[in-house]
Amino acid sequence: MRHALVRGVSPAMNRCELTHRVREAIDIKRAEGQHRAYVAALVDLGCRVHEIPADPNLPDSVFVEDTAVVVGDAAVITWPGAASRRPEIESVRAFLSDRLEVLRMEPPATLDGGDVLRVGRMLYVGASGRTNAEGIAQLRALVTPRGYGVVPVVVTGCLHLKSAVTEVADGVLLANRNYLDVDAFVGVEWIDVDPREPDAANGLQVGDEVLFPTAYPRTAERLRRLGTRVHAVDVSELAKAEGAVTCCSLIWDTAGS
Ligand code: GLY
Repeated sequence: MRHALVRGVSPAMNRCELTHRVREAIDIKRAEGQHRAYVAALVDLGCRVHEIPADPNLPDSVFVEDTAVVVGDAAVITWPGAASRRPEIESVRAFLSDRLEVLRMEPPATLDGGDVLRVGRMLYVGASGRTNAEGIAQLRALVTPRGYGVVPVVVTGCLHLKSAVTEVADGVLLANRNYLDVDAFVGVEWIDVDPREPDAANGLQVGDEVLFPTAYPRTAERLRRLGTRVHAVDVSELAKAEGAVTCCSLIWDTAGS
């Protein structure tokens, strides 16, 4: 069974953190509608969706991916790089603790789940403005006994590693290689975003389909031409908060159907 944890759009989303984007007004009703459609797409793709209610005090909490990293039957609860986001972790921890073994990171480590790209048993971890060296070291100490490797990747010019690169098929990475140190990656195949769509590297692979923003049709066409099944979703209001399709869910598998 494939599970997806999501969290509703906060009515305070206009007070979100922004790092590389200019602030634009977010239409909360429209963002909520886009989020409902995103959730419906996850259901279409076979996920059992669990939803934590929206929190009016936590502007970025829809981006639930940043609060935890799932490795097998365990979840590492992160210590997010932005102080405003740290109160998001408690409700995620409480939800996951009934379902997965929960492991904790401790400050001064900081790490956002958006910086962790799992490819097989390897976790590529963005050394970004949100994830520090101590965060990468703590993650390594927690996941190494579970058979996962950790490789740091320098990220520049975008928020998270997964703003720059995501896996769209087993071992196949969609990327804007200008944003990251490609030499860190071993044994992967690359698909480049269309140069007119530099922020198009974030797709969410669910089974053999990829949830992908409607905002990037040229890159979507590249993916389709290479045989990827693209499930397009409009996340334009969520993108104004510097979020993308991977950030809005935390996905894990359990045995059985
Ligand atoms: N607004 C998303 C983030 O900065 O974490």
